[in-house]
Amino acid sequence: MIHFDDKRAVGFLKQQDLDQTLTRGLAAQRALGNGTGAGAEWLGWRNLVSEPNDALLEQIQRVADRLRHEADIIVVVGIGGSYLGARALLRARTPYFRQAVGTAHDDAESLFEKNTPSSSPEILFAGHHMSGAYMTDLLDYLNGKSVYLIVISKSGTTLEPAIAFRFLRQWLKSHFEDVHKRIVVITDSKKGALFSLASSSGYERFVIPDDVGGRFSVLTPVGLLPAACGGIDIRSVFYGAVAEFNDLNNLEENDSHRYACLRHTLLKTGYETEVLAHFEPRLDYFASWFQQLFGESEGKNHGGIFPVVAAYSTDLHSLGQYLQDGRRTLFETFLLIDPSHGAEIPSDSENRDGLNYLAGRSLDVINAKAYEGTSRAHEAGGVPNMTLRMDSLSEENLGRCIYFFEHAASIGGYLAGVNPFDQPGVEAYKKEMFVALGRDAA
Ligand code: PA5
Repeated sequence: MIHFDDKRAVGFLKQQDLDQTLTRGLAAQRALGNGTGAGAEWLGWRNLVSEPNDALLEQIQRVADRLRHEADIIVVVGIGGSYLGARALLRARTPYFRQAVGTAHDDAESLFEKNTPSSSPEILFAGHHMSGAYMTDLLDYLNGKSVYLIVISKSGTTLEPAIAFRFLRQWLKSHFEDVHKRIVVITDSKKGALFSLASSSGYERFVIPDDVGGRFSVLTPVGLLPAACGGIDIRSVFYGAVAEFNDLNNLEENDSHRYACLRHTLLKTGYETEVLAHFEPRLDYFASWFQQLFGESEGKNHGGIFPVVAAYSTDLHSLGQYLQDGRRTLFETFLLIDPSHGAEIPSDSENRDGLNYLAGRSLDVINAKAYEGTSRAHEAGGVPNMTLRMDSLSEENLGRCIYFFEHAASIGGYLAGVNPFDQPGVEAYKKEMFVALGRDAA
């Protein structure tokens, strides 16, 4: 289960302002439900969970089972909404020392160590940046392995994954004869360069529905196929989201609506930056997924909350001073997991480090105390904060959180008076880049 707590945020708001937003939020939620708001042609992410397609889930699982059986390495090629959801799920559900320990922004891309059984292929990522060194190292690393590709692009024309696919396709052609069996493409149903390439080459294909935008596509093959390849129970993820959809649908004044309204009222009160903070490194890519979801849904017409992510307690030792004492335009949303047993602090007969007062307590319990302390200190320092708590980092809870945030981001966009489902601003840098590359962006 997931649970939302706003007790350290409401005190920063005038009740009248919050009440007004809550009323507007209900209207926004109805517009979402009725399909009468802006961007109503992009509501496929709701249809996915209101009418679950079990046959598709089974098909995804079948393809994943084949790849898991045949591959030493699966390279997942994609960027933005065609990358972050899959990576978030894999990161959250893969044991630490079967994955490279690092942050969402370092170069450690491997999710599985090299010597795992062949039924658990190593999952690598490409096409999410344009580092030449990374591509050189990757191609070098693939030598001698049975390699498969999952190539994901809704438009089929995004430069980063298109270039990565060209490198990897040529590498595959020079190493294997059965290349067409080693590539699975996830793209539009009828258009784009990737669609044409996949159709003419006979690659296995999955479709990204027309009415599902990139950042809302994690519950389509875009997120689910790579996750299933990593051994994740995608049915539980998916049905977690279905359960959250039903819960939110059954209660008009639900927590996702309330969260959206609190955020919007905080923005109107001068809190312009939301720090999505967690205390569990396995959530770092989930935080990056959140950042794209809210940033692209709300950041329009020179407005919107600026979403940033922080990993605690690590970042409390770098950003802590600013959070406690810098500009008072920040609010925090904690993504929290209830503590589990294990990793109990050992007793030490000499106690020279003075830590025996902690002996017998689990590290997770101490981590939970760090959350409590941070949440109280930041409230006292003028940082409103809210918490979305999961009782465990289960597949079901991940699915629930995905839908909770998708729903809230959509209401947030409507409250801000923008279309939450487009992203016209993403095109600007591409145009300039194509000019710099000597190609017309059209
Ligand atoms: O949310 C979005 O639309 C973007 O972040 C896209 O997901 C990203 O640019 C990748 O696009 P595509 O899937 O078309 O390659």
